[in-house]
Amino acid sequence: MADVDAVHAYHGLEAVACYQDWEPRSRVEVATEVAKWADGGWDRQAPEAIVFAVTLRDTGALIGDIVLLFRDRDARQGEIGFSFNPSHGGKGYATEAVPAVFSVGFGHFNLHRILGRCDARNRPSWQLMQRLGMRREAHFREHALFKGVWDEEFHYAMLAREWAEMDRGGS
Ligand SMILES: CC(C)(COP(=O)(O)OP(=O)(O)OC[C@H]1O[C@@H](n2cnc3c(N)ncnc32)[C@H](O)[C@@H]1OP(=O)(O)O)[C@@H](O)C(=O)NCCC(=O)NCCS
Repeated sequence: MADVDAVHAYHGLEAVACYQDWEPRSRVEVATEVAKWADGGWDRQAPEAIVFAVTLRDTGALIGDIVLLFRDRDARQGEIGFSFNPSHGGKGYATEAVPAVFSVGFGHFNLHRILGRCDARNRPSWQLMQRLGMRREAHFREHALFKGVWDEEFHYAMLAREWAEMDRGGS
């Protein structure tokens, strides 16, 4: 719960919430979320989701979170989502952190495929997924209403064998 203020610093922003299925969160709402996340995962046999805190190595400051959702146990399908504090954006931190979550998903949890969905207008998000080597699998056009306007959604994915084959530059 000591992370509530750090998470609120970005979950409370319209710029972070605008392409997510939630509105900017109050501190109380963030506290409720963080309590759920803390109650989440590793010690459970079959968690529904695990939320990872991303911290700076030097200071320990929390600068973002990455969620790994378990969508289909039999088909071993996962999904990722990410939110970072914009004051730490543009430095490659998400590019560094998301592969660590892939390692957990494909390695520890033996997932077969990890999906990432984003609004087509959310360029930083789809650029991040492209930079990570995920494949764009779909572009849904005006298939739903999102916050009152037609939704354009990209789906990106990575298969376990693609992850294994990818040259991670020794990392
Ligand atoms: C999606 C999100 C995490 C992307 O953040 P980001 O800052 O673009 O991503 P990174 O931290 O990996 O930084 C990449 C940028 O740093 C630059 N960079 C600097 N050093 C770098 C390094 N060592 N490695 C990689 N990139 C580096 C890259 O060139 C890139 O800059 P560019 O956007 O000008 O091309 C962020 O925009 C966010 O949290 N948005 C709000 C929440 C959201 O919409 N989530 C997705 C919902 S689907």
